[in-house]
Amino acid sequence: MPDATYHFPPDFRWGVATASHQVEGGNTNNQWWAWEQQPGRIAQGHRSGRACDWWTNAEADFDRAAAMNLRTLRLSIEWSRVETKPGIIDTAALDRYRQMLRGLRERDIEPMVTLHHFSDPLWLAESGGWTNPDVVAHFARYVKQVVSALVDDVTLWCTINEPNVYATSGYILGDFPPGMHDLGTAARVLRHMLRAHTAAYRAIHEIQPGAQVGLAHNMRFFDPARPRRLLDRAAAMVQDLWFNRTTLAAVGGTHRLPWWLPPVGFGPALATRNTLDWIGLNYYTRDRVAFDRSARDTAYGIRLHSDDAEPMDGNYGELYPEGLFRAIKRLSRLNLPIHITENGIPDSDDDQRPRALILHLHQVWRALQDNCPVKSYYHWTLVDNFEWAEGWTLPFGLIQLDHATQARRPRPSADLYSAIARSYAITPELIDAYGPELRKELLPG
Ligand code: FCB
Repeated sequence: MPDATYHFPPDFRWGVATASHQVEGGNTNNQWWAWEQQPGRIAQGHRSGRACDWWTNAEADFDRAAAMNLRTLRLSIEWSRVETKPGIIDTAALDRYRQMLRGLRERDIEPMVTLHHFSDPLWLAESGGWTNPDVVAHFARYVKQVVSALVDDVTLWCTINEPNVYATSGYILGDFPPGMHDLGTAARVLRHMLRAHTAAYRAIHEIQPGAQVGLAHNMRFFDPARPRRLLDRAAAMVQDLWFNRTTLAAVGGTHRLPWWLPPVGFGPALATRNTLDWIGLNYYTRDRVAFDRSARDTAYGIRLHSDDAEPMDGNYGELYPEGLFRAIKRLSRLNLPIHITENGIPDSDDDQRPRALILHLHQVWRALQDNCPVKSYYHWTLVDNFEWAEGWTLPFGLIQLDHATQARRPRPSADLYSAIARSYAITPELIDAYGPELRKELLPG
């Protein structure tokens, strides 16, 4: 009988990912906090509030991560805490981050630090945020402060999380602040984010030549709902162009843009090329896109639900593990080390997550067999956290959180992930225990 264990390389890193505003609590000085106070913005009127209380006690969750055999953890620095007013740096906030990072290292957990993860200081938002070209210089100045302060404790930096999601949700779909619906402005925001990434990349390397700097790209697939229809294919292509190709072309160079793409204007002139030491992949789902003449807001492409697709909880989209393999293959064209900086599923009762975790990691394993340079996997996320416009309604945690009492309860998936991280393998025993229905697919013979 063939060995039915899926082994991962011994230097593969298992981790979890989070973001400051989603876990720290009390981030009153950013645009998300202000947004949460406006009626109708967040599902069920939820607010981040104390979140997971990390500003006071992230260390208790670091203990949990260490006990789960995790060797890396991705967190973000909250710009609004560090630079409270333009040019005014709060050194006590930097000290607290240093303490957290040292706490990770003491537990043998390597930190990955994101410098921007959706939240902006209020002063920045009030001056036009990422629509204002000054943001590039502001961001570079902030990054220099952070990197100089934390240079002894971090080498793995992620400049910006998901420029495409920030631009799309804030400026096209309008479900993130500032709630706009304007493609041209969205393109401007994306352009500024990519320029800011470039400036940050250079600034970090000046301070720390050995730094490993990347950005986290949210790769979502847009497949035609009815592949034989030309207009569905065209609509899907336009979505892909905006969401994936612009960013990858700008920073990676190998994803060519068609010459006719007008207002976005990314290209060699942007000088973003060669500004990545690695690429981060955030993968969740795919859309099946159909052409719809009335859907101006989404460039005439709407999502269709497909009957043969298993939906994730909370209307989060199709459970589509194979997309992770496709995404890794696509990013491999950049010839850079790949960190899977996010992947997970909202699932309160954990009836889907164990199976989903096994299936997604199986796709990572497949990509590794194909010699794709995947170095690590960060599950989103350790503990249920404040899920932006969805508030507390989408529980992504391996550990369940009651955010009123701060009580935590590990879900079965936490044990599963911990066992995989301990053995660097998905074993038949784990498949039997956590996803017996996968036997046929994963344990042939
Ligand atoms: C990603 C975000 C992350 C989290 C997950 C579920 O797009 O980067 O903060 O909200 O989705």
